Amino acid sequence: MRTRIVAGNWKMNTLPSEGVVLAKEINQYFKSKDKDAKIIICPPYTHLYEIANQIDQDNVELGAQNCSYEKSGAYTGEISADMLKNLGVKWVIIGHSERRSYYNESDEILFEKVQRVFESELNPIFCCGEVLEQRNNKNHFKVVKTQLENVVFKLNESELKKMIIAYEPVWAIGTGITASPGQAQEMHAFIRKTIAEKFGNNIAESIPLLYGGSCKPNNAKELFGQDDVDGGLIGGASLKANDFIEIVKA
Ligand code: PGA
Repeated sequence: MRTRIVAGNWKMNTLPSEGVVLAKEINQYFKSKDKDAKIIICPPYTHLYEIANQIDQDNVELGAQNCSYEKSGAYTGEISADMLKNLGVKWVIIGHSERRSYYNESDEILFEKVQRVFESELNPIFCCGEVLEQRNNKNHFKVVKTQLENVVFKLNESELKKMIIAYEPVWAIGTGITASPGQAQEMHAFIRKTIAEKFGNNIAESIPLLYGGSCKPNNAKELFGQDDVDGGLIGGASLKANDFIEIVKA
C-alpha cells in the first residue's frame, strides 16, 4: 500500500497571522483522529517559522513552495533549502507550473533545485503537467515524459524513494475545470509506467503520485479512488480549513 497524501499549496495567500490560524485549525482537527493520509501544508515563507512552532509535525507536516537553486551567498531575495531545513520544514514544492511559466524556471533550474533539496535532507514534491494546447495536440504524454526525464530520471533510487510527484494539468489549475478521474488515472498510470521502465517496478509502485488542479471536496473522492492516484496537491481549496479537511477525509 502506498502512502496516501494530501498537500495544501497556499500560494501567495493569507497574511502570516491568518495563516497561523488556518494551520492551527487543521492541526487541531486531525490531532486526536486516526487518519489514513499524510497531511502536508505549504504556506508562504513568511509564515513558516511561526507555523512550525504551532503545529505538531507528527500530525501535519510542513512544506515550502520553492527554494533557491544556490546553496548560499549573494543572491538577494532568495531563500535556501538549508534555511528551510533549519526552520523545521520537511517538503519543498519544485516545478509548480506557476514557477515554470511566470518565473521561467527551466528543467535545468528545477534539477538544480531538487539537488539542493536533497542536500539539505528535505524532500521534493515535484510537479509536472501539460498546458491545454499540448493536450489538444495529443502531446501531453510526451511533455510529461520529458519533464520527468530532465529531472527525475537524473536522480538515484534512494532519492526517488524520498519524493512525491504531483501531476497537475496546467489547464486545470485554478480554473475550476478538473481533469476527469479517467484522465487523471490515465496520466498517473503513464507516469508510473515511465518510472518503472527506468527504475523498476518496486520504485514505481512505491512512489506517491498526487493529482492537482481544481481538486475540491465534491470531486476528491472520485479522483482519489483511481488506482494510481495517491492523493492530491490542493491549491484554492486548501485555504479553507473545512474544505481541506473534507478533501483529506476523502
Ligand atoms: P488549484 O491549484 O487546486 O487551486 O487548482 C492546485 C495547485 O496549483 O497546486
